[in-house]
Amino acid sequence: MRVLVIGSGAREHALCWALRQSPAVTYLACLPGNGGTTDIAAHIAGDPLDYAGCAAWAAANAIDLTVVGPDDPLGGGIVDAFQARGLRCLGPTAAAARIESSKVWAKEFMLRHGIPTAPARVVTAATLDVALRDLHAPTATYPVAVKADGLAAGKGVVIAPDAATAATTLREMIADGRFGAAGARVLVEGFMTGREVSVFALCDGTSYRLLGTACDHKRALDGDQGPNTGGMGAYAPADWLPAATLGEIEQTIIAPTVAGMAAEGVPFTGFLYAGLMITPAGPRVIEFNARFGDPEAQVILPLLDSSFLDLCLAATEGRLAAQPPVRWRAGAACGVVLAAATYPAAGSKDVPITGFADIAADVLVFQGGTRQHGEQLVTNGGRILTVVGLGPDRATARERAYTNIARLHAAGTRYRTDIGGQGV
Ligand code: AMP
Ligand code: GLY
Repeated sequence: MRVLVIGSGAREHALCWALRQSPAVTYLACLPGNGGTTDIAAHIAGDPLDYAGCAAWAAANAIDLTVVGPDDPLGGGIVDAFQARGLRCLGPTAAAARIESSKVWAKEFMLRHGIPTAPARVVTAATLDVALRDLHAPTATYPVAVKADGLAAGKGVVIAPDAATAATTLREMIADGRFGAAGARVLVEGFMTGREVSVFALCDGTSYRLLGTACDHKRALDGDQGPNTGGMGAYAPADWLPAATLGEIEQTIIAPTVAGMAAEGVPFTGFLYAGLMITPAGPRVIEFNARFGDPEAQVILPLLDSSFLDLCLAATEGRLAAQPPVRWRAGAACGVVLAAATYPAAGSKDVPITGFADIAADVLVFQGGTRQHGEQLVTNGGRILTVVGLGPDRATARERAYTNIARLHAAGTRYRTDIGGQGV
């Protein structure tokens, strides 16, 4: 079996690692990959946004299965390009990826199917004046979440504490075009309180299998301070989530989403990522993503005991319902991201990373913003790597991650010290 992974982050390193666990994988390539994937996969130069080029490479190299990591190529139609050549590619088509790439589409989809989420209104240039006036209505409540419709590199959501901030944000997004076309339509959404959790499902278009739960830490600094990032660390499973609540999530959110997409003629294949708020009134969708999470993949995949390859193949062939139940290892995983001290504003480049020889054998290091420079591994991005500790419980996994990340050295980098701690 010849397999290709598209992407270059620590999530893609984890995808490669999980696929490598299957002896059936005789050849593994990563396009473009990073300093860590070079140890376990062939490094293919190329641009994940050059869909036709990626598909042509896969066809010329007899690739049997391609797994796509990041949102941009999925939203842009990489799966469509592979399918047009008759190639097996795990991920949603561009039409199905709208569940992530258009927050307005996703919100309207949820309303059509009764999937629990925060109430929201859509604002465009044509309705901006009315919306600005309504922000000051006596019935308006704050905070509100103001969200650009399209992909905005994680910066498209502003929690506005009052009408003035909401008004400024709406004007910036719609009138000033701060996010270009991605901000031409904006959601003004009710604020939800509760605890956040990410729930994953692998989908084959008509059926799905739950693929674990995790808690991400999105802010740059300890104590959830600082700017939002792609994620500074995560733990799995969400050990505080009652089984009954997970059952409710499956019944009221995951199952109707998969069924609704199929019914609307945009069947969802790939990793469905539900970002949820567990509110006092029950689970509500904050957002959907059409891909695996980063760093959630790094903590969920090491706990998977079933063959990841078999699950991926079954998902691309509509055979998930016939698969045996997904098996998990007991215990927990905690992943801490080593990031550039300047992240998310800027990344780190060409700084040597040392200390790998001191990492314990049972700790996993998934590399993201790294590259091999001769014999030396150097930094090459904002989120440099994820150190994943495993253990019988979250506290042990966390202790192992922190003991080991302290053994790595790269000037001008930092990590949060409260990943997987109590109450987060
Ligand atoms: P998103 O990019 O949609 O995941 O939003 C980024 C973060 O903003 C989420 O992880 C939440 O912490 C927060 N957020 C988004 N929407 C809401 C909402 N309606 N109520 C409360 N918090 C929200
Ligand atoms: N960890 C958040 C994300 O993957 O979007």
